[in-house]
Amino acid sequence: MQPIIVLTASYPQIARQILSGLGEIVEHPTEQERTEEEMIAILSEADAAITLLSDPLTRRVLASNPNLHMVANYAVGTNNIDVDAARELGVVVTNTPGVLTEATADLTMALILAVTRRLVEGDAEVRRTLRCIWEPLHLLGTSLQGKRLGIIGMGRIGGAVAQRARAFGVEVIGTRHGEPIDELLASSDIVSIHTPLTRETRHLINRDTLAKMKRGAVLINTARGPIVDEAALCDALDSGHLRGAGLDVYEDEPRVSPRLAAKLNVVLLPHIGSATEETRNAMARIAATEVARFLRHEPPLHAVT
Ligand code: DGY
Repeated sequence: MQPIIVLTASYPQIARQILSGLGEIVEHPTEQERTEEEMIAILSEADAAITLLSDPLTRRVLASNPNLHMVANYAVGTNNIDVDAARELGVVVTNTPGVLTEATADLTMALILAVTRRLVEGDAEVRRTLRCIWEPLHLLGTSLQGKRLGIIGMGRIGGAVAQRARAFGVEVIGTRHGEPIDELLASSDIVSIHTPLTRETRHLINRDTLAKMKRGAVLINTARGPIVDEAALCDALDSGHLRGAGLDVYEDEPRVSPRLAAKLNVVLLPHIGSATEETRNAMARIAATEVARFLRHEPPLHAVT
């Protein structure tokens, strides 16, 4: 019998090309939010699967189908997967590291520039008024040159952001996973988050840590939403303690807080850090190659478990 390979979304075509002839491919239309029950149903006959970062691969889901031995997550982050359970159940989990570093770093810079130079406000004004007004005190932002960027999570993506920021004349400091962040918070004009979501980093940015940030600083998050306590962030923006924020990810994704959406000094993007054709194709190539290797009994290249 042919193995069943479940694709939980419409991934780039390259995935199907790599998997062609290796099994029966069952594709499910992309859905942003699936329950455990829905995941169990989708994976009920799967031997291997390519999954979305929003697919809940809990212990219950992983244990529901004893045939399921391999999950290639179409993301570098794996916080949607109970990795301990996967390990215990003998399910191989892989991710897509490396190929989204540059795209995510580019988007981080785009957010930094959008917030500090008020790009979204300016764009909205021109569209609304059909006028381009030059006034000495109009839409003033803040310059990047000479400012300090604090990078929480100086890994691959954090390092790529640092490289870009230095080209803008920004001084960069950073912490690695688990290192104290107080000094970084207290001395940075912009704080950018690039750490994975784990038990330890959930709400790492909260009321207390926000209070430690410099008055007038900017917060950028292109990592995972639950690292930031959004209610506390909204309060820090309302009180004027923070100048602004740039977010690509949300605490309760896919839902976005109406409080955040109402603020003009916040730039909101729909989790598009890796959304370039080149990057998404590269991610599909990696995920499908991992499934192909698994079906050929070859070891994974990017094992998480
Ligand atoms: C990832 O791969 O974890 C990213 O968030 C996708 O954009």
